[in-house]
Amino acid sequence: MINNYLSQTTKVMKSSLIRELVATTKNVPGLISFAGGFPSPATFPKDILSKLYGEVVAEEGRDVLQYGSSEGDNFLKSELLKWEGYGDLNQDNMIITVGATNAIYYMTRALIDEGDVILCEAPSFLGSLVAFDALGADVQGIPMDAEGLDLHKMMEKVKQLRENGKKIKFLYTIPDFQNPAGVSMSLARRHELLNYCEAEGILVMEDNPYSRLRFSGEVLPTLFRIAHEEMKNSYLVTEIISFSKILGPGMRVAYAKGDATLINKMVSWQQKVNVCPDCVTERVAAKFLAGGYMNPHIQSICDFYKPYLAKMLDSLSVNMPPYVQWTTPSGGIFIWLWLPEDMNADKLFFQAKEHLVTFIPGSKFYPEGQEKFNCLRLNYTYSSLEQIETGIERLAGLIKSIYA
Ligand SMILES: Cc1ncc(COP(=O)(O)O)c(C=O)c1O
Repeated sequence: MINNYLSQTTKVMKSSLIRELVATTKNVPGLISFAGGFPSPATFPKDILSKLYGEVVAEEGRDVLQYGSSEGDNFLKSELLKWEGYGDLNQDNMIITVGATNAIYYMTRALIDEGDVILCEAPSFLGSLVAFDALGADVQGIPMDAEGLDLHKMMEKVKQLRENGKKIKFLYTIPDFQNPAGVSMSLARRHELLNYCEAEGILVMEDNPYSRLRFSGEVLPTLFRIAHEEMKNSYLVTEIISFSKILGPGMRVAYAKGDATLINKMVSWQQKVNVCPDCVTERVAAKFLAGGYMNPHIQSICDFYKPYLAKMLDSLSVNMPPYVQWTTPSGGIFIWLWLPEDMNADKLFFQAKEHLVTFIPGSKFYPEGQEKFNCLRLNYTYSSLEQIETGIERLAGLIKSIYA
């Protein structure tokens, strides 16, 4: 009955297929799951946070239990700018949001008219793909190579879309430890990409929940930093940083930096949707930074995760047949696996469940109609080391038995 009342947009809106898939694996005894995108609860800084939450409510409750400002807590913003070393940016260049999900939604809402094109890596983060879709965007995926988004493929795509009269608004990219592929964009590619986007008038939404989770190798500058510091371009890149994988996704703290006019429009959307972020949590995050806890905490997360990544990469090397390939990230929380062309990971998902191991089929991370089926995503931050070893043995055994 209620269906008759739903708006057209709601009627055609896609749900998170991943949540539905993961739900089918709940309550299966002995199942090892590499499916979710959850950080390990062992990395949550519970002791410091419980102290800070207590102090903030006791000492600043009159202020932080009140409605706050839609642009976010100024104290948190100034701590973030100090932490990131952007002395020349100010509060107007930043909005605090309820998770990166909100920032992605606001920026898309501010920029996209029905039918406008958003380019993205293919595969990409499903949460963003469904938001873009719900807001009427025409989402076009571009393949990646070992250095990240394939710029030649992007150039071809842009030319073809423009020949068809399409309006391209922005590129959505996750340059560091990409979700789902685990790929990081090389430094050279970052420069080439930004020069091209600037020349072609294509804005960039840089989604960055993982760059601080680097376990080895050289830290690369973000697209935002390159555009801002080297290219002196203040509007090209908007960077969205989430603390979900650093402090805990339940806190829902994220922020976006960018052009003051665009940020202001995002604030207008936040005002309508949320009024303001959670003021208590904003102040706790500010004190976490001001107290100097952030960098040592991030180092402790990296030290914690490093052996899990090593265990999964090692188990893959030992067990997988030569026709299976995978990415070898040096951080983040995901590994991407390529199966032979004629294998279908959507089918493998159901067979794997019978063998008590699960993952997310790769097809779920592509824009609609652009799917690839011979790939899958593995998460290594939620299982024990023993589970990683056993789970990969099970998966490899199954693949070998099917492809024998
Ligand atoms: C690339 C990417 N963007 C955004 C998000 C959502 O982040 P948040 O929890 O801050 O909404 C995630 C979460 O997994 C992600 O992987």
